[in-house]
Amino acid sequence: MNYRHAFHAGNFADVMKHLALVAILLHLRKKDAPFAVIDTHAGRGLYDLSGEQAARTGEAAGGIGRLMVPAVMQSALPEALHRYLAIVEGASARFYPGSPIIATMMLRPQDRLVAIEKHADEAAALKSSLAAFRNKALHSETADGYVRLTALLPPRERRGLVLIDPPFEDADEFAAQARAVAAALKKFATGIYLLWFPVKSAAEANEFAGEVLTAGAKKALRIDLDIGAAERVAGEKERLSGSGLIVINPPYGFADDMRAALQYVAPLLSDKARFEVRWIAGEE
Ligand SMILES: C[S@@+](CC[C@H](N)C(=O)[O-])C[C@H]1O[C@@H](n2cnc3c(N)ncnc32)[C@H](O)[C@@H]1O
Repeated sequence: MNYRHAFHAGNFADVMKHLALVAILLHLRKKDAPFAVIDTHAGRGLYDLSGEQAARTGEAAGGIGRLMVPAVMQSALPEALHRYLAIVEGASARFYPGSPIIATMMLRPQDRLVAIEKHADEAAALKSSLAAFRNKALHSETADGYVRLTALLPPRERRGLVLIDPPFEDADEFAAQARAVAAALKKFATGIYLLWFPVKSAAEANEFAGEVLTAGAKKALRIDLDIGAAERVAGEKERLSGSGLIVINPPYGFADDMRAALQYVAPLLSDKARFEVRWIAGEE
């Protein structure tokens, strides 16, 4: 395993993904009925931004580091952004919360989280991050998230979110994710699915979107954010400039929530930042 999310935690792609996560969970919380969150590639939960790995890339400084809005101005922000920033600030200035911690903070007593992480040391760190929340229904597993997903569906609550956020270390990852979505939709067609993918080429991203539709998604929104950072700085590894999300069965109003949040966030991330929110199947 080469991929360690600690190098990237809090970067612009995390900001976009975690904003979407919060926005979806805000919608699920509107009804009293319980919901489940299944996080198939959960990571370690908390990332030390003062640690050596984060410091080496400095990616958080170009992501969450650009969004620190003074507290007095926060209540004027779009709701999902306001809530996301409050969760990040609540985790302390030093640590950035990953998806399982953000989801945990949004759970009510009747809701539950299943977080899966394949790599033992990351999974052990995840377990200890989650142990702090004794009053929540949390379950973490050391396993392959793709394999476990189909076994966990449909959730007994019959409502909920599946987050699939793989590392994209292997060339096969796009295909693996699309296969997992196809299998999952067969068992839980009404679930909300939040899929993250890197946008390194338009053709590759479009092909993936096509595969998700072929997998059976009838209603799907695609969100792209590019921060215009593709140029390679001499001696430095190429940086990811584009980040994509596909949300299958997004809640009503989610597309507008994301437009409002990204309208605010994109110019803070970069003066070259561009985003797009569009339906690729069905519409509201
Ligand atoms: C992009 S990171 C996850 C970040 C996390 N979702 C967040 O937003 O905070 C991907 C994680 O997936 C883990 N991983 C890789 N392959 C996996 C698999 N097949 N099943 C579960 N986890 C896997 C990696 O160890 C890594 O921690």
